[in-house]
Amino acid sequence: MRTLNVELDNRSYPIRIGAGVLSDPGLIVPYLKTRRVAVVTNDVVGPLYLAPFVAGLEAKGLLVTQIVLPDGEAHKDWPTLNLIFDGLLGERCDRSTTLIALGGGVVGDMVGFAAATYQRGVPFIQVPTTLLSQVDSSVGGKTAINHPLGKNMIGAFYQPKLVLADTSVLNTLPDRELKAGLAEVIKYGLIRDLPFLDWIEANIARLLARDPDALAEAVERSCRNKAEVVAADETEQGERATLNLGHTFGHAIETGMGYGQWLHGEAVAAGVVMAADLSRRLGWLSDADVERVRAIHERAGLPVKGAPLGADRYLELMAHDKKVTDGTLRLVLLRQIGRAVITSEAASADIRASIEACC
Ligand code: NAD
Ligand code: GLY
Repeated sequence: MRTLNVELDNRSYPIRIGAGVLSDPGLIVPYLKTRRVAVVTNDVVGPLYLAPFVAGLEAKGLLVTQIVLPDGEAHKDWPTLNLIFDGLLGERCDRSTTLIALGGGVVGDMVGFAAATYQRGVPFIQVPTTLLSQVDSSVGGKTAINHPLGKNMIGAFYQPKLVLADTSVLNTLPDRELKAGLAEVIKYGLIRDLPFLDWIEANIARLLARDPDALAEAVERSCRNKAEVVAADETEQGERATLNLGHTFGHAIETGMGYGQWLHGEAVAAGVVMAADLSRRLGWLSDADVERVRAIHERAGLPVKGAPLGADRYLELMAHDKKVTDGTLRLVLLRQIGRAVITSEAASADIRASIEACC
């Protein structure tokens, strides 16, 4: 088992990564406030992993409430969030109950938001089951639901007590989801970790073949990058925004196409290629750099062209981005491969040109 720490003073917490950690409830018990826990999952992950997980917790003497949500990004909304509160209140879960999110980023983001608000805040634990959630969404305390006008628009910063990432559950993940997770792995290399990007390029075939050592290495190196950024800038006053490379374009695709049509990682991949193209227009990347960005996404089986929404619609959707300040759009772009910056320097004509060239 590999262990990292997210250093946030008295809210610091460990990330434990390893094959089979889900079957070891002893790893969870020290992080609980009382014997009461509520495990929240969805109707895809539940049939695969819920029963043995709950049995393990009950064998440790815990009182377990189970809540099963409908699957999918289209359900990352108020009515589904309310199902969590219905379950908690229905079973009289008190404010010492620890919520456990068993699932991908959608479950993790919603359970985190529920934990932040249920009885003004209860502890929660992330048990991420997709590659994307193991390398990104389970770490750092961003929690949210979507609004029809924009992705992740309603939420809170609220840190978990523990992240437990079992790499063996990635064996049941559909290929398309595995590839979507690779988009966030590649992102760390591009924004701040050139040696990691080199490693990903050399090991992409092993990652796609689900080589357990390669996946564990990718999860650990991704989480290390994320933990460092979060420790430096928990509430995204600056550096943390670089984790959103490609996301402004990507969120426009997800919202514009209808949540769930494009996977988050797919939209991010196309968005990163657009951000690289725009960085070239600013004179920051060379043609060869842009080709390098495009090629690694293509080799990972990810889209390298955006959805054909039309530039006007992209720009309208991008105006809702959370990085918009005082009406000015700020984008995360690449000063060079391995160094991302947040900038409002891109001219509207260039943004439009990149959208048109990349879609
Ligand atoms: P997801 O949660 O929808 O999971 C993808 C699919 O895989 C779902 O159908 C899910 O039920 C299924 N699944 C999960 N684990 C499985 C397993 N082990 N075997 C088989 N099937 C499994 O999607 P995701 O890619 O994990 O997360 C995307 C979400 O994460 C988006 O809503 C995005 O906004 C959010 N996100 C949040 C952050 C953050 O910092 N909070 C960062 C990145 C992304
Ligand atoms: N995934 C972006 C962040 O956590 O800040």
